Amino acid sequence: ALSTTEVDLAPIKVGQRITVVWRGKPVFIDHRGQKEIAAARAVPMNQLVDPQFDKDRVKKPEWLIVVGVCTHLGCIPLGQKENDPHGDYGGWFCPCHGSHYDTSGRIRKGPAPKNLLVPDYAFLTDTTIRIG
Ligand code: FES
Repeated sequence: ALSTTEVDLAPIKVGQRITVVWRGKPVFIDHRGQKEIAAARAVPMNQLVDPQFDKDRVKKPEWLIVVGVCTHLGCIPLGQKENDPHGDYGGWFCPCHGSHYDTSGRIRKGPAPKNLLVPDYAFLTDTTIRIG
């Protein structure tokens, strides 16, 4: 597997999520709308299992980029496809043991101990990122 992956974000519409593979792992790219951003930013830190501000998990509010591997036992959470369940917090739902992640990819309910990992990435242009 390549150690870095470049992704053109321009074709990804608001509300759309795509999956790319980086170092053999799925990376979820979510073009968030205002509603998802507002929901992520409204959560008080004391309600979080693994407290992290949304602003510290993104470089641009409209783009959430996380490794799509559940921090419990490593299943791939659902939520990337339109008809997938998104869990109780509008993000992702891990079907293996029922972990719910929010619109910032933070764990909100279920056995996972940590938020979905944010990989190292950089914006090369306004609409291109390099992961890794
Ligand atoms: Fe996701 Fe157990 S692996 S909840």
